Amino acid sequence: MNNHSSIQRIGVLTGGGDCPGLNAVIRAVVKTAINKYGWEVFGIEDGFEGLIQPGKVRPLGLRDVWGILDRGGTILGTTNRANPFSYEVEVDGEIKVFDVSDDVVRHAQVLSLDAIVVIGGDGSLRITQELIAKGLRAVGVPKTIDNDLQCTEITFGFDTALNTAMDALDRLHTTAESHHRAIILEVMGREAGWIALEAGIAGDADVILIPEVPYRLDAIIEKLETRHRSGAKYSILIVAEGAHEAGKPPVYQQHREVGGVKRLGGVGELLAEEIREHSDIELRVTVLGHLQRGGSPTAFDRLLATRFGVMVTDLVAQGHLGQMVALQGGRIVAVPIAEAVAKQKLVSLSSDVVKTALGLGVCLGDTPQAIAALQAQEA
Ligand code: F6P
Repeated sequence: MNNHSSIQRIGVLTGGGDCPGLNAVIRAVVKTAINKYGWEVFGIEDGFEGLIQPGKVRPLGLRDVWGILDRGGTILGTTNRANPFSYEVEVDGEIKVFDVSDDVVRHAQVLSLDAIVVIGGDGSLRITQELIAKGLRAVGVPKTIDNDLQCTEITFGFDTALNTAMDALDRLHTTAESHHRAIILEVMGREAGWIALEAGIAGDADVILIPEVPYRLDAIIEKLETRHRSGAKYSILIVAEGAHEAGKPPVYQQHREVGGVKRLGGVGELLAEEIREHSDIELRVTVLGHLQRGGSPTAFDRLLATRFGVMVTDLVAQGHLGQMVALQGGRIVAVPIAEAVAKQKLVSLSSDVVKTALGLGVCLGDTPQAIAALQAQEA
């Protein structure tokens, strides 16, 4: 085990989609590394791109992190296109794919970085794990608005996105009520429906559709018509971008791919069209999109991101490379990055939060009996 006296210089990078709280982590890492340990810190720009292309690594001092605690985004820049194992380069007008992972490991060694703090979601941390196997000295900090990383009860960024989605629902309630119509809010969440589920409960949605429960149109229409018959003049639906009808694939944006991943989007409009075809319900659709990723982090996210940043720097000092900081039972602990990226943290249908939605009478896309059958399968 290393002890902090052998560490002199560390790097820090932010990878994948941005989220509120990235700057809070960077600030905490820089402050702890300099004030507590007397190390030098280098900022690596645009995720792993900064270790592939020259001229994208710069010293980070205390002044560089002044005033950034409350700023959304990342002062280091990020990208979800720079996977060193399949790096796209334009050669003679054609896109070719190269494995530049050895260059990344070598570049970190040439810069004499004793450890790199990777602030990333499942994609960036999976890449980090593969680079560690090749000799990269790294630790991880879990970020993502999607909250789909295992081993940590929550990722920073999620709480801010949740509040943004809840605020949108609050606003949609008043206009939907005034016009006596139904409104669908489409939120992010590729495979995991955490934002839709929790914002849906906090923002009083009548229908919550998540990728984990393939929806059936008749169950949704039945819910909306029952509400209408019982005197409710409007309804609110929230749908995760990755939610899909039973037996059908998710809805992708045409011809859009980022880093080999097809972009989702459009399920809200599709659902509205389908409901209109089979009923007289008047519907409108709002897509919240990247508003969920932007803006100032909530107090919860600032605090969690700062705790993660301080503790991950301590992990480096203690020689716990290959580990990721995580929140478990209210405490910050260290877990192997390999374990965190082994599979995604999806919504469990037997969880309290799903039971809460069902208890409130929320339609989760199918009948309560069908959901109970899915719960039984899960057990
Ligand atoms: O961070 C994950 C995520 O928010 C997904 O929910 C969404 O599909 C994706 O990012 C969109 O990313 P971008 O528009 O940056 O490619």
